[in-house]
Amino acid sequence: MNIGIDKIGFAAPSYVLDLADLALARQIDPNKFKIGLLQSEMAVAPITQDIVTLGAQAAAAILSEDDKAAIDMVIVGTESSIDQSKAAAVFIHQLLDIQPFARSIEIKEACYGATAGLSLAKSHIAQFPNSKVLVIASDIAKYGIASGGEPTQGAGAVAMLVSAEPRIMVLNNDNVCQTRDIMDFWRPNYDKYPRVDGKFSTEQYTDCLTTTFDYYVKQTGKSLADFAAMCLHIPFSKQGLKGLQAICQNDEKTLSRLTERFHEAIVYNQVVGNIYTGSIFLSLLSLLENSQTLKAGDSVLFYSYGSGAVCEIFSGTLVEGYHKQLVENRLDQLKERKRLSVAEYEAIFFEEIALDEAGNAIDLPADDCPFALQQVDQHKRIYRKN
Ligand code: HMG
Repeated sequence: MNIGIDKIGFAAPSYVLDLADLALARQIDPNKFKIGLLQSEMAVAPITQDIVTLGAQAAAAILSEDDKAAIDMVIVGTESSIDQSKAAAVFIHQLLDIQPFARSIEIKEACYGATAGLSLAKSHIAQFPNSKVLVIASDIAKYGIASGGEPTQGAGAVAMLVSAEPRIMVLNNDNVCQTRDIMDFWRPNYDKYPRVDGKFSTEQYTDCLTTTFDYYVKQTGKSLADFAAMCLHIPFSKQGLKGLQAICQNDEKTLSRLTERFHEAIVYNQVVGNIYTGSIFLSLLSLLENSQTLKAGDSVLFYSYGSGAVCEIFSGTLVEGYHKQLVENRLDQLKERKRLSVAEYEAIFFEEIALDEAGNAIDLPADDCPFALQQVDQHKRIYRKN
């Protein structure tokens, strides 16, 4: 039985910051962000948007009533949790009116969480071929004003419907993983923003890739010649490009072929920024919607990396007619986001929900996004469907 990705949806908050404006405000050469990091804009989320609203919006864009009746598992991968106990998936399950007899959970391992969710979904469908699993990657990446990671922030969610006989991509059974206990990027419970050893994290990203790829080649007998494209975790686009260059080593022909596809695979990431666990799947969506070269039967190699660190290499093969499940004008939709000044972005960055003594917040700003946080009532978050 073929199992894989049947549908993919995406949602970003309605605000965007131009990194050229950020560079000027921080007295940095704009080319450091544009050429040095290969990034041009980043998505910014107001306090009425969180991993629940973004995840629900990404999923609502793809689900039919039949899907909602067949889904019996909702998995949210995230490292921007809104609660230490209750899973964001439970809120999303309710907001989307998914049939009640479902399992709803949250998975965490930095940017790797949703990839683990995808594997779990695949195993579940192997056991229950008539069911469908909703896997959502949803995150808000905030490093701090004027911090080293500031230009690599972002926010957004990718939703994937996993099923038997999928209409976009069959997931192959060739996954290999690596776990390496390192402190390259982490966020203690008492910290609002992550702690990051920037240079070390970039080295570990690449070293985990090359060593895991060597293992993948040994385990599967496959090589880069078997793949039409590669999608990597994209904390910022230049990092992905360096990863690709590292595994192509001295094979210039393969590097040139895969680099062409890579540029198609970062079109959305360049204007959204790091969305942590969803970045690799946003890259897949970007590849599928922007490549004129890919065709059914082509295989795509994936490198998922989550700091801490866990990584996975796996692959998928495109299905006949996959392009019918995609959107043609997504970049135009992204161009409609409201462009913030640096002062507006900084104000949003520091905005916090002000609770009274009883844990209530009722006067949150109006938000006309499809899903929004409406109020907090005795420490309970209440969402509105618009
Ligand atoms: P930095 O010190 O600000 O920048 O840190 P830099 O000095 O390393 O410069 C960056 C690049 O810009 C360099 O390119 C410069 O040469 C170039 P490279 O040599 O590396 O190819 N540059 C210029 N180019 C053109 N014109 C100019 C110019 N000036 C400089 N004028 C760093 C960069 C990535 C460390 C920082 O942004 C950071 O700490 N980011 C956050 C951490 C991160 O993203 N790490 C990535 C790997 S870890 C990961 O992916 C996991 C993660 O997603 C978290 C998770 O798993 O949950 C982060």
